[in-house]
Amino acid sequence: MKIIAICGSPRKGNTEWMLTTVLESARAEGAETELLLLRDRDIGLCRGCLTCEVGDDRQPGVCIIKDGMEELLPKMLAADAIVFGTPVYFYMLSGLLKNFMDRTVPIWPLLKGKRAAGVAVANDTMGRALENLRTYSDLCEMQWIGDVSALAEEPGEVAENEAVAELLSGLGRKLAVRRE
Ligand SMILES: Cc1cc2nc3c(=O)[nH]c(=O)nc-3n(C[C@H](O)[C@H](O)[C@H](O)COP(=O)(O)O)c2cc1C
Repeated sequence: MKIIAICGSPRKGNTEWMLTTVLESARAEGAETELLLLRDRDIGLCRGCLTCEVGDDRQPGVCIIKDGMEELLPKMLAADAIVFGTPVYFYMLSGLLKNFMDRTVPIWPLLKGKRAAGVAVANDTMGRALENLRTYSDLCEMQWIGDVSALAEEPGEVAENEAVAELLSGLGRKLAVRRE
């Protein structure tokens, strides 16, 4: 079982800790895991040209922008499960993660059937961030395994919440263990 986590926070903060906790527990169940920090990658804005769409041959499309996505898209295709993580920005997912999702046009129909999960963290109001992650997953016809939300403001704050840590570990276990 290969599980990747995609971190949509521009800082080393609560989202990253939440994803790390999910992956640690998945690894304890034998999964192979990788944390991908979007802030460390060179990812340009989607230009909306749609020349990259998956064709009738069901092969990945080719984006005209040559950047960090060339490494990230194959990782998504190779994964059995993908965990999306975002800080809540104006009650929504972060722009960093949204642009990443926009840049998945070359492969999104090929994500069908993979497992998906989401984590989100807000200072005081979650808004629709988890719904945003779930919407992407549903559109790609991925299988939603679950989500965890938390309240925290400063980096490191969420790590003090034992109940959240327990929920994150549970999500990791659920992602790693096949029910079939
Ligand atoms: C641009 C911006 C918008 C934010 N919008 C919200 C919001 O709508 N609701 C909220 O409760 N917190 C909001 N916050 C606070 C963050 O969600 C919170 O600090 C979170 O812990 C950040 O996660 P991180 O440490 O992973 O970056 C916002 C922060 C920023 C920088």
